Amino acid sequence: MIESTFLLPLLPIIFLLPVYAQVTVYGITGQQFIGQTATNTAAAANYTGSAAYDPTVLTAPSIPIGDQYPSLQFDIQLQNGGTNGLSITQQGSFLGFSVEMSVVNQVLGRNSTYLQVPFLNLMANVVQRGGAVNVRVGGNTQDLAVLVDSLPDGKIIQKDTSASTNPTDTPPLQFTNDLIIMMRNISDLTNVRWYLGIPFNDTNWRLAIAEQGQQILGDYLLGLQAANEPDLYADHGHRNLSYSPSDYLSEMQSLVSAMSSDSNIRNQSVLIAPNIATGDWTPENVWDTGFVDVLDTSLAYLAVEHYPTDNCFAQFGIGTPHDAQTIFPTFLNHTSGQSFVQPYLNSTAYAQTKGKRFLMMETNTASCGGFAGLSDSFGAALWTLDTAMQMAYSNFSGALLHVGGQNVYYNPFTPPPTNQSTFHQWTIGPVFYSTLAMAETIGPSNNSQILDLGANNGNIYTPAYAVYENNDPVRVALYNYITDSSGGSDYTASISVSGGQMPSQVRVKYLVAPSVSEKHNITWAGQTFGAQFASDGRLTGFEDIQTITCTSSCSITVPAPGFALVFLTDNALSESGATGATTTFPTTAYTKSINTVTVDASVLATSNGNRGGGNMGSTSKGSATNGGMKVGVEYGSSVGVVVGMALALVICLLEEW
Ligand SMILES: *[C@@H]1O[C@H](CO)[C@@H](O)[C@H](O)[C@H]1NC(C)=O
Ligand SMILES: *[C@@H]1O[C@H](CO)[C@@H](O)[C@H](O)[C@H]1NC(C)=O
Ligand SMILES: *[C@@H]1O[C@H](CO)[C@@H](O)[C@H](O)[C@H]1NC(C)=O
Ligand SMILES: *[C@@H]1O[C@H](CO)[C@@H](O)[C@H](O)[C@H]1NC(C)=O
Ligand SMILES: *[C@@H]1O[C@H](CO)[C@@H](O)[C@H](O)[C@H]1NC(C)=O
Ligand SMILES: *[C@@H]1O[C@H](CO)[C@@H](O)[C@H](O)[C@H]1NC(C)=O
Ligand SMILES: *[C@@H]1O[C@H](CO)[C@@H](O)[C@H](O)[C@H]1NC(C)=O
Ligand SMILES: *[C@@H]1O[C@H](CO)[C@@H](O)[C@H](O)[C@H]1NC(C)=O
Ligand SMILES: *[C@@H]1O[C@H](CO)[C@@H](O)[C@H](O)[C@H]1NC(C)=O
Ligand SMILES: *[C@@H]1O[C@H](CO)[C@@H](O)[C@H](O)[C@H]1NC(C)=O
Ligand SMILES: *[C@@H]1O[C@H](CO)[C@@H](O)[C@H](O)[C@H]1NC(C)=O
Ligand SMILES: *[C@@H]1O[C@H](CO)[C@@H](O)[C@H](O)[C@H]1NC(C)=O
Repeated sequence: MIESTFLLPLLPIIFLLPVYAQVTVYGITGQQFIGQTATNTAAAANYTGSAAYDPTVLTAPSIPIGDQYPSLQFDIQLQNGGTNGLSITQQGSFLGFSVEMSVVNQVLGRNSTYLQVPFLNLMANVVQRGGAVNVRVGGNTQDLAVLVDSLPDGKIIQKDTSASTNPTDTPPLQFTNDLIIMMRNISDLTNVRWYLGIPFNDTNWRLAIAEQGQQILGDYLLGLQAANEPDLYADHGHRNLSYSPSDYLSEMQSLVSAMSSDSNIRNQSVLIAPNIATGDWTPENVWDTGFVDVLDTSLAYLAVEHYPTDNCFAQFGIGTPHDAQTIFPTFLNHTSGQSFVQPYLNSTAYAQTKGKRFLMMETNTASCGGFAGLSDSFGAALWTLDTAMQMAYSNFSGALLHVGGQNVYYNPFTPPPTNQSTFHQWTIGPVFYSTLAMAETIGPSNNSQILDLGANNGNIYTPAYAVYENNDPVRVALYNYITDSSGGSDYTASISVSGGQMPSQVRVKYLVAPSVSEKHNITWAGQTFGAQFASDGRLTGFEDIQTITCTSSCSITVPAPGFALVFLTDNALSESGATGATTTFPTTAYTKSINTVTVDASVLATSNGNRGGGNMGSTSKGSATNGGMKVGVEYGSSVGVVVGMALALVICLLEEW
């Protein structure tokens, strides 16, 4: 949605930095976006650094009382075959990422030969669990993007800040096709599939991104968005005030016509529309123009974008102010995800009648950057995991979590600020754990169907879903939204399966943290990405998969707060990537050149953090390499350095981003 852009110094800088110096930096100052939400920690009160590292911790909602307090013992009765109300079939790639086009050079890599290894590791982690991961490169900046032959200093993107023309100060973005080559290089290493967008700021169609996207990405290009939140174009001054769904349809027809006379666009059935923000228009307003029938074969997907709330007042002084502490409880119950999908239930049904899949192209906890302490909390991780499952149950076919720059609170992952990249690693946000858990919950069969179980008499704090393959339940997802450190609100669900053999045992993985307000101490099956600036994209620690013996039922305890994924069969566990095999690690130090790390492609493809084995991959400068196949992916950031603190001098060349 509305992203502020942030401007970094425009001159290339060279730093000479002794690594052993005690450099302690908590975020960079001077960013324009400073959260104005209530804080309850002294450190947070006067924090002026980047949103991505804001220390604000909210207070967890109090334990519900009276009728709202859930029963702590309840049954979940499943059956093999014959269950009604299941979703359409879903893929393990359901929950992916939407990367704002203006930050691709920080998140994906600098260019086609300089990929960000942490990004590769993070994607490989999802791929290993769900079979594939879908990433959109786009956002507000896609509408103004221009493909150019080259940019100064070999850059792949550049903001033309002299030419900002709109209220949100989104500058026109120039990019070279090396951006798309970089995306292809990533896909060749791990199964990332991409969405791009055709610029829509005017109807002198700039189709180069469609031509180059298809030519370079081939089958890895899933589709091309046609317009980004067109229902907000009038408000944002991109169209006149009378701009309506039928005007938008006329423009789509003009686009389709331009594409059909472009022989360099080989596949015409690639458009994703209408991508409305569900702000000024409802989806029905668009459907009722005849949109889907008129555009028919040009449409690969129908899609929307939506955030449950916004923090635009704090950022731009527009809209209604919201206080993070006050709204925190509205994310922490099952009604939240149900309310989120409600405006689209008619559309997901409608899409099925038209033989189209329906996507959520961009979402997160709140637009305009999210909220300090909320968007970067374990509560947000539970919300994302529930809301994504609710979308899957409601017949969406995918959803993408938005990733912004240093100036947002909601990022699933954030590279260190450019001038800290030699001594800091990446910061992994709580919602990234949701994508791992989601990929394992749905699994890689591409044949999973989801059911909201209405568990525990529909108590809003203890929702549960079952996942079916070929009509039999294979996994169960259990949530506990309550924070109660006494252990007194942990619950036990007794799962039984009729119509076949009851399992003699089941396996369970937990996503846990001490509180819904926790920011860093989060584990998935015992493994973590650690604190701020601490991750190279691989999980650390030993994977902990619990075994529960069943009698007439399987009793699963879910801590408050927490999420448990129950694997009802051995196959359900192994297909979600948990083979128990000791497959490890992606990155190896490449000692010839400081700050350069190569990726062993064969290992990356099967990497899963440190699952099952104790073998830590070394990323430190000077440590042994495993002689794995070098694929020439250079990495100039932190991976090689953090562990190498004892080594004398590191010279880092920093480029402007
Ligand atoms: C915040 O800054 C104000 C003004 O400089 C100062 O008086 C106050 O003590 C600071 N608060 C904290 C918690 O550091
Ligand atoms: C990519 O960037 C690196 C480091 O800035 C540079 O050495 C390399 O030549 C660039 N590659 C291309 C293809 O521009
Ligand atoms: C659309 O964006 C392109 C590239 O930034 C620019 O050249 C063109 O003038 C813009 N059109 C309008 C109507 O602003
Ligand atoms: C990445 O792209 C470059 C073109 O700049 C190409 O030469 C190189 O082989 C690619 N690398 C990989 C790992 O595919
Ligand atoms: C065209 O692209 C769409 C969307 O990715 C895909 O579903 C379809 O199979 C492609 N058609 C051909 C002929 O490749
Ligand atoms: C507003 O835009 C529509 C099409 O987008 C056009 O038909 C109409 O003439 C425009 N109105 C004005 C007042 O410019
Ligand atoms: C569902 O959407 C269709 C297509 O826009 C519309 O005709 C119908 O009235 C909608 N139904 C409801 C209940 O909103
Ligand atoms: C549960 O969430 C809904 C939707 O966000 C919200 O309206 C409601 O106030 C929440 N309930 C409680 C008890 O916090
Ligand atoms: C999802 O689609 C299936 C198949 O059409 C349907 O039976 C089910 O009711 C739908 N679920 C929801 C929540 O709309
Ligand atoms: C990084 O850049 C920011 C903003 O330009 C500056 O305030 C900060 O001091 C720099 N940090 C280091 C470690 O150089
Ligand atoms: C599932 O779909 C993904 C993405 O299209 C594909 O890469 C993978 O091979 C499929 N898996 C199976 C088991 O069909
Ligand atoms: C991290 O959280 C777990 C519970 O999820 C708790 O047992 C542990 O003590 C916490 N560790 C730290 C360092 O706070």
